[in-house]
Parts: sequence; C-alpha cells; structure tokens
Amino acid sequence: MSGPSTRAPRAGEPVLIVDRLRAYYQMKYFGIDREVKAVDDISLTVNRNEIYGLAGESSSGKTSFIKTIAAANRPPLNVVSGSVRFSFLDRDIHALSQEQLAATRWKHLSYIMQGSMNVLNPVRRIVHSFVDFASPHLSLRKGDFQFAVEAHLKRLHLEPSVLRAYPHELSGGMRQRVTIALATICKPEFIIADEPTTALDVVVQKGVLGMIREIQREMGSSILFVTHDMAVHANMTDRLGIMYAGRLVEEAPTAELFANPLHPYTRHLIQSLPRIGDTSPKKALEGTPPNLSAPPPGCRFHPRCPLAMDICRREAPELATLRPGHRVACFAASPAVGPTGSDAPAEAA
Ligand SMILES: Nc1ncnc2c1ncn2[C@@H]1O[C@H](COP(=O)(O)OP(=O)(O)O)[C@@H](O)[C@H]1O
Ligand code: SF4
Ligand SMILES: [Mg+2]
Repeated sequence: MSGPSTRAPRAGEPVLIVDRLRAYYQMKYFGIDREVKAVDDISLTVNRNEIYGLAGESSSGKTSFIKTIAAANRPPLNVVSGSVRFSFLDRDIHALSQEQLAATRWKHLSYIMQGSMNVLNPVRRIVHSFVDFASPHLSLRKGDFQFAVEAHLKRLHLEPSVLRAYPHELSGGMRQRVTIALATICKPEFIIADEPTTALDVVVQKGVLGMIREIQREMGSSILFVTHDMAVHANMTDRLGIMYAGRLVEEAPTAELFANPLHPYTRHLIQSLPRIGDTSPKKALEGTPPNLSAPPPGCRFHPRCPLAMDICRREAPELATLRPGHRVACFAASPAVGPTGSDAPAEAA
C-alpha cells in the first residue's frame, strides 16, 4: 500500500517543505539523560526540478538532517518537533506506516547514502539488488523488467554486464554509478544524495557528478545534494543552504551565495576554496565546532566569529530574508544591528 499521492507539482513548485524541524540524539549516559541537538529548528523548501545543496563542515548535522527527512532516522535520533512534507504524500512522512514508507522509497523518494556498499548486497550479484528494490514498484514481467533495467543502465552509459558482477568486483566509481542507476530506475520525484562522490578521486568524481546532473535534467526530479565540498556545490547546485552546528545559517541561489555571502561562516567556506594562481596561505577558522549536547548560547558561531558582538552571545539570530531569495541568520548582516549599528564589534568599529 502506498502513502496516498497528491497531484504532481509544476516546475518551481515545492516538492519538499521542512518546517521548524528538530531531531535530537536522545541517550542515557551513565544514567544521565543526554541530548545531541543535531537538527535544531530547520525550515527549508526544495522545488521541483532543482538541485538544492546542503553544505557545512563535518558534524554540522547534514547526515542527521537528511536521514530525518527521509524518515530513515532510528533511535536514538528522534524527531522532537516540526514537520517534513513531500508533495507526493498527503501527510507528514513520519506519519506513514512502515508499509507506506516501503512503498514510497525508490518509487517517489530515493536516498543515495555515503558509501554504496550500504545499498548493494555484498554477497549477491548486482542484478539481485535491482530485483529487490525496483521490481515491486515497476510491476513488469520478468523479461520486460530485465529489458527495462538494461535500457536504464545503457542510458547511464553502463554496460548491462555489471548486473552479473558482485559489488566487490567493481571499482568504487563504478559501484557508485550502479547505486545511482538503482536510485533512479523508478524515476523518483525526489533524490537525496549524501556525499555521493566524497570517497572518489577527482576524475571519477567528475564523471559521477555529470551522471547525476544528466539524469536529473532528463527526469526533472528534485535533488537534495549534501557535501562539505563547496567546489562541488559551485558546479552542481541551483540553490545552497549552509549548516552550522545543527542550524541553517544561510541560504541563497548558488551563484548569489558565492558572489555575495552574508554570513561570516559562509565567507570563510568560500575563501578557503583553492583558486588557480592564488598561492596566499588560507586562514584556518579558529576554534572547534561546538559540542551539540551543550551548544553555546546566542549565535552558535560566536566563539569563532571575527565579527561577534555582545548581542551574539545573548540572542540567537533568526534566519531572515535580506535579499530576494537570500536568507541569513546573522546580526552583523542585519541593517538594524551591525556592523554600522549600535552593537558593532570592536574590531569592525
Ligand atoms: N549515532 C549517533 N549518536 C550520537 N550522536 C551522533 C550520532 N551520529 C551523529 N551524532 C552527532 O550528531 C552531530 C551531527 O552529525 P552528522 O549528522 O553526522 O553531521 P555531518 O553529516 O554534517 O558530518 C555530531 O555532533 C555527531 O557527533
Ligand atoms: S550573529 Fe554575531 S556571532 Fe553570529 S555570525 Fe553573525 S556576527 Fe558572528
Ligand atoms: Mg555526514
């Protein structure tokens, strides 16, 4: 049984709406309750036919966030509040039964996890993964199913002979291509990809990224594309969200974000990118990412921020729209507060 589908959205209409989502790891540690606030009050929208990128350093909560969106979170990672709504479901994804979720996965929503071996069964030939995941959704007779799988592989420039291979017989890049073929064979409306090319060398990475773009254009699906690699975002994504310590701190169309970053953390991420001919030393961000079981009060970035003001230590900035389609959570970017406002930092005065 499927989660009841609603009408298909037109290009530009939202496919995913996440509203004030909080998801915490809730554990007992030597008898004491401990909460890691990995996803803390995130709201965002992904439209039809767009690639939305999510960036941020390691441990900023990217994987926890997308696991929660896909309802692939398991205890101790629990949804504390907020909602996750897809256009092809008539209710919050967390309100679906396990049966309805199974009917939604692969057909409407695919999740390409970090490391293809999570999906491919290591002791069975690749063809069995296609049969297990795709045949319940495609409702084709055996011969037709085989034909459809081979045609899909060919469209993605893969030889049908990979179906007879065991995962360990393929290179890392080839395995990731097979995983993407598996994730797209049912033409899902929404694809979530978590660091899909991080483990691959640069040349192979380029091929796999090209393949994802090609198939997205062809199918018109939406992709939530997660990587810490800003150079990949610059080449792949239409819009980009920056996560820091469990929160979304900036969001804009990718070109606008690179041309006009408003959050000090985003500026740091962009300035750290290597540029041809630039041999100047890159300044590392001082300090370490905060402990998410006891995050700093106010703006979570304030202990590392060169622009921190008094207000930043007391209050958490809201994500506010400061330019068309450009949201940022930073007092220094707000015209009412700084850096020309009354609470300007000593360094910027
Ligand atoms: N199974 C877990 N139990 C407790 N804390 C976890 C677990 N997995 C991740 N975390 C914590 O959640 C935070 C976010 O991690 P994660 O979502 O993996 O970030 P990212 O994908 O950006 O690297 C980190 O502080 C991490 O230590
Ligand atoms: S709100 Fe304050 S501490 Fe946070 S990023 Fe902006 S200036 Fe820095
Ligand atoms: Mg991760």
